[in-house]
Amino acid sequence: MADLISSWPNKLDAVPPKYCIPMHERPADPVQIGERIPVIDLGKAMGEERPVVVQELMKAFEEYGFFQVINHGVSDDLMKEAMKVYKEFFSLPAEEKASYAKDAANNTARGAATLYTSSAKHYDSEEHRYWRDVLEHSANLDGKDKVTWPDNPPRYREVIGSYSDEVRKLSKIILGLVAEGLGLEAGFFDKELGQRMLVNHYPACPDPSLTLGVGGHCDPNLITIIQQEVYGLQLLKDDKWIGVDPIPGAFVVNSGLPITVISNGKLASVAHRVVTNTTHSRTSIGTFICPDDIVGPAKALLGPDNPPRFKSFKWGEEFMPHYLSKKSVYHASLEPFKIDA
Ligand code: OGA
Ligand code: NI
Repeated sequence: MADLISSWPNKLDAVPPKYCIPMHERPADPVQIGERIPVIDLGKAMGEERPVVVQELMKAFEEYGFFQVINHGVSDDLMKEAMKVYKEFFSLPAEEKASYAKDAANNTARGAATLYTSSAKHYDSEEHRYWRDVLEHSANLDGKDKVTWPDNPPRYREVIGSYSDEVRKLSKIILGLVAEGLGLEAGFFDKELGQRMLVNHYPACPDPSLTLGVGGHCDPNLITIIQQEVYGLQLLKDDKWIGVDPIPGAFVVNSGLPITVISNGKLASVAHRVVTNTTHSRTSIGTFICPDDIVGPAKALLGPDNPPRFKSFKWGEEFMPHYLSKKSVYHASLEPFKIDA
């Protein structure tokens, strides 16, 4: 059984050796909140200010790979309820959570619910662990894996079902703006895209200078929509880690590696990590929108002045196994798919 941090019987005074990450990856300053990443008012996206919103979004994705959205259409009550449900889930008795726990099976091809602590397999030596528990399952439109979702708290499936429907709508709005910003046809992303809930729980940690909630990585999916309420998320900009300040009621949106490929290198996919803190546990609700099976530079963007910089690939079969084997090495998982100029 996976050794869930949130199931340890006692609060620890020290970080167990397995959870102390190697020196070079330790956060030098775990609590710095830097300049603010762009905040986009999506309420304006349906009116005459839409072109301005498109520009703001493109600029944010080019410069930071991240932005926050407000007036996004997902109700405050539903966001609060979802957060409550997840906090309750992670505080269930150990034996109950154990029924979902599998050993670090971070395999995004599967849809059934799984719960694990996050191993950091990219180091040369022994296995290290990050300071987080993860609950993961698909939330596809077909609802096929819903029977595997937790049934405790008893309202889990109802609340998270509504939440994933609402966040799916939000993802369509955002992807519509991305398509417009890139100059692609309006329906470019308008397909039934895969959707996963990936919910992180980072318990308070006795010594944040020795741990990371999750190490630096780029996301493997199209876009990620995160709900957070406690600080901890940082992104790498100009070789410096800067904090993503939680704004009540907002979502954090970031672009994954496939967006870089589809935009033929125009839009960044930025590395990010999570630091821990001594006083508060942190739960972040991630909705991962996944690409259609084939990912490649959008044809409408290509021409003599813009030759393809990436080969097309099958996301599930070719990219994901490679990504999982090179996890946390930032952009390295795109290397085999690059076309040399
Ligand atoms: C992730 C991730 C950030 C967070 O799960 O890929 O980057 O805030 N999470 O928990
Ligand atoms: Ni991530």
